[in-house]
Amino acid sequence: MNSKSVTFGVQPGGCLKGRLRVAGDKSISHRSIMMGSLADGTTHVTGFLEGEDSLATLQAFRDLGVEIERGGEGEVTIQGVGVDGLKSPADDLDLGNSGTSMRLLSGLFSGQLFDCTLIGDESLSGRPMKRVTVPLASMGARIDATEAGTAPLKIHGNQKLAGIDYEMPVASAQVKSSLLLAGLYAEGKTCVTEPAPTRDHTERMLTAFGYPVARNGNKICLEGGGRLTATDIEVPADISSATFFMVGAAIAEGSDVLLEHVGINPTRIGVINIMKLMGADLEVLNEREVGGEPVADIRVRASQLKGIRIPEDQVPLAIDEFPALFVAAACAEGETVLTGAEELRVKESDRIQVMADGLVELGVDAKATPDGIVIQGGKIGSGRVVSHGDHRIAMSFAMAALRAEGPIEIEDCANVNTSFPGFVELAAGAGLGIKTI
Ligand code: S3P
Repeated sequence: MNSKSVTFGVQPGGCLKGRLRVAGDKSISHRSIMMGSLADGTTHVTGFLEGEDSLATLQAFRDLGVEIERGGEGEVTIQGVGVDGLKSPADDLDLGNSGTSMRLLSGLFSGQLFDCTLIGDESLSGRPMKRVTVPLASMGARIDATEAGTAPLKIHGNQKLAGIDYEMPVASAQVKSSLLLAGLYAEGKTCVTEPAPTRDHTERMLTAFGYPVARNGNKICLEGGGRLTATDIEVPADISSATFFMVGAAIAEGSDVLLEHVGINPTRIGVINIMKLMGADLEVLNEREVGGEPVADIRVRASQLKGIRIPEDQVPLAIDEFPALFVAAACAEGETVLTGAEELRVKESDRIQVMADGLVELGVDAKATPDGIVIQGGKIGSGRVVSHGDHRIAMSFAMAALRAEGPIEIEDCANVNTSFPGFVELAAGAGLGIKTI
């Protein structure tokens, strides 16, 4: 579908109510396909995100000869082929909008015997890939990119990889994971040091598949040449998708939502910490552990939020949640200041500029800075904003309507299906006056 052909029309006001289960975790869903495919034996996945991004990863492994069956409702069965069992694809692998697929698979495919080419949509084709291709080259990988260091990425097979000890210049779980996955095929030890903690789903899932991973402070290491043993994976609901409802409930008077079975991995809970600092009425209930990942139910009721200076150590822990948090800031009392978040400029869109433009269009005082934004809380008006094909921008502005003075129209929303199919129906059922036009 042409991504520009979907517009959301959202009526102002209302509140959110009910027990809701949002879509499965995108990061964990990607990794379940990758590791299930490389494992010896059969892996059953439940709660898999049937969104376009994780389905792009699934299709890539089918194209490499892995038998993967979808049972519907998030059930996936993967007949693992072992670390050495992937087959040469007949064609280029199209990863759509998915940065996680492209960055993680560049590492994993660098260690194969065959060549392959990774392509993506317009947004993905503009995103920086040198952050993975440069360290992978120093392991011995051969990857051709455009002069700007972007996709298409042609990965040459049959290269001898050697482990490296790499200090990441940016806090990126995608870069860390890419190098660790290449490290499975490298001679010796691959170590990655992160400047700040980033999501650790790759490390956790490798461990669950019986592959030893060592963490010492901020350094993560593994030895190449091991094997993975199939296991069952239960994917929790995605805290990044839950965020839209957490923010919506916090800003709309009368709201009370219980978000069920949400992943609360400590490397992902920046949004909880930041919302609590803003004065949100947010409770984390019924904490438990499922398949190596902590999970809880999150209850949010409306309250008057206050503007804050967002602590920089929370930035990597809330990296995908900022578009929604900017909407919370627009409804808060006083000023909210974000710094140290220049990474937001190279996500599916430039999330600093696109959010600032949209907020200003709606009458909010928002100023983009090179590495963040300054937002004065106040009234949200009405108008038409553009999501630039960025799923998280689209869903954030949809929630802004709960506090708007008039309707909000959001253009270019088809990519909501990359991470959150069913968003419109779930949000409408909870009380948001949203329609697809
Ligand atoms: C992801 C890591 C993050 C995040 C992305 C998913 C992952 O990117 O923004 O949506 O699954 O590893 P970076 O690691 O590049 O910050």
